[in-house]
Parts: sequence; C-alpha cells; structure tokens
Amino acid sequence: MLETESKHRILILGASGFLGGSLYKELCSYFKTFGTYYTDNPTLSKNKHFFQYNLEEDDVFEILNIVKPTIIISSLRGDFSAQVIVHKHLSEYISDTNCKLIFLSSANVFDAYSKYPSYEHDKTLSHSIYGHFKIKIENMLLRLPKKKVVIIRLPMVFGTQSPRVNKIAQSLKEHIPIEVFPNLIMNVTTDSKVSQQIHYIINRNKVGVFHLGSNDLVHHDDFIKEIIESMGIKKAILKNVFTTNDDRYLAVLPKDNLLPKHLQLMSHEIVEELKYN
Ligand SMILES: NC(=O)c1ccc[n+]([C@@H]2O[C@H](COP(=O)([O-])OP(=O)(O)OC[C@H]3O[C@@H](n4cnc5c(N)ncnc54)[C@H](OP(=O)(O)O)[C@@H]3O)[C@@H](O)[C@H]2O)c1
Repeated sequence: MLETESKHRILILGASGFLGGSLYKELCSYFKTFGTYYTDNPTLSKNKHFFQYNLEEDDVFEILNIVKPTIIISSLRGDFSAQVIVHKHLSEYISDTNCKLIFLSSANVFDAYSKYPSYEHDKTLSHSIYGHFKIKIENMLLRLPKKKVVIIRLPMVFGTQSPRVNKIAQSLKEHIPIEVFPNLIMNVTTDSKVSQQIHYIINRNKVGVFHLGSNDLVHHDDFIKEIIESMGIKKAILKNVFTTNDDRYLAVLPKDNLLPKHLQLMSHEIVEELKYN
C-alpha cells in the first residue's frame, strides 16, 4: 500500500489552517506532502516542505513549478476575488498536466434552499456572498475533465482544535453569551474524519462531488448544548438568534457518492470525541 501511495506529490494550499493542517498530518506519512502558510511562522519557515504564500500577491505557478504536484488540495481562506483568480490558475495547471484538484467547498452553495437537505447532484443556489463565491469556483472546476476534479462539500466542521470549539471554550471562560440558531437544522463533521475520508478518496482515485457530513441531522442549538455538556459545563449563557420564522436546513447529505461504513459518521461521535480529549 505504502509503495503505491507514495507515487503522489501532494500540495496543500492553506496547510497552516485548521483543515489544511489536519490533512497534512493525515497524509504526510504516506505521500510526499507539501503545504503553504500565509502568516509569518518561524517553525514553518524552516520546514522545506512549506512555502510562504500570499494569494493576493504571489504567483501560485512558482510553487507549482517547484513542487510539481500530482494532487493539489485547496483549503484556503482569503479575499474572494483573489481566490477566484488563483483557482483559474490552478485550472490551467490541471489542464496542462496530469494533476488532480481537490477543492474544499461548503454546504453554503445550497443556502438559498432552506426547506430540505441537499444531495450531490442537486442544483446549487446561494443567497450569501460566501456561497456565491464557492459556486463560482465549483462551476469553473466542473468544466475541467471529470477525472481531474474532486469537490468536497462540508457542513460546519468541529474537532478538539477547531476554531468553533475553541470559541465556545473562550466564551465560557469569559462568561460571554454563545450564539445559537434554534431554527437551523444541519449536519456536522470533524477535521479528523474529513481527513480520513479525503485520504480514502485519494487512495481509491475517486472523483466527483462528495458530501462529507454526518448521516444524521441536528438542531444547531441542541448540538452546541451537547458540546458544552461534553466540556463538563452544566450551565452556560446562550443567545438565541432567529434568522427566520421557520426551520432552515443547511445540510449536505450523500446519496450517489457514498463512502464505506467505517468512514461515515453520526453527530454523537463528534461529541464523544470532544469528551475524551
Ligand atoms: N472549518 C469549517 O467549518 C469549514 C466548513 C466548510 C468549508 N470550509 C472550507 O475549508 C477551507 C479551509 O477552512 P479552515 O476552516 O481550515 O480555514 P482556516 O483555518 O482559516 O485556514 C485557512 C488557510 O488559508 C490561509 N490563508 C489565509 N489568508 C491567506 C492569503 N491571503 N494568502 C494565502 N493563504 C491564506 C491560512 O494561512 P495562515 O493560517 O498561515 O494565515 C490558512 O492556511 C476553506 O476553503 C473553507 O471555506 C471550512
């Protein structure tokens, strides 16, 4: 297995981030893995597998020409228009080489549909700037040869080191109200599960659109309360935020591109993982 796996050279754009970092940890023992970081970081600056990269100023081709990746994972944040240009450049590179692109997209590409959860081949439609931007990049990538593109749509991602869980812990410490959305019905996942799932997608050479969220749906407020309880806190100050009168879905469920059972998850497993860490 190791021998076949090591044939890939993987470049993770945004490897210093929450999801990029988790992916780097998951993949670096099996593949020649490289990554980018943006914020000055003395440790990463000494690591020959890491490149400092500012998507608003630097030419991504410089890194591509050094790394010569066979797989690029796009796990970036930053200015939306600049990201669109970067993905145009990545598309050119993908067209001209035998490289594949794995793009981390979001459940927000469906945020204009509030009445149902969404499946891989549903038409995307968004009312948000973030959702629009993700759709723009998805559509650009869907014009590339099918065998070269993986689109990963993610719901809210939690995990022991996640910004979302850190923010809850910080608010509890400072006795600041934690915002919850009682009308929001969603599915959820963790960085560790997403990283294992993407490792599998790479190993099996899978392509297409994947919805990587829990199989079950949760109300946002109930799930946040469970996370708080998992931290051993009985009472917390919550602030209910109602954006609509009716329940609103923001959930990406799989139908056509199912992963094996051991790579699927239920929301309670996330709470369990947080409890024991
Ligand atoms: N986390 C979630 O719940 C979630 C849900 C759905 C989709 N996603 C998608 O998953 C991807 C990764 O999200 P994340 O939560 O891991 O984000 P994150 O922790 O904020 O990481 C973002 C990465 O982008 C880099 N970056 C920021 N500004 C940059 C710039 N101007 N130039 C170059 N690089 C820049 C950061 O570098 P530094 O850290 O070095 O500054 C970091 O490596 C995003 O595309 C996001 O839309 C995330």
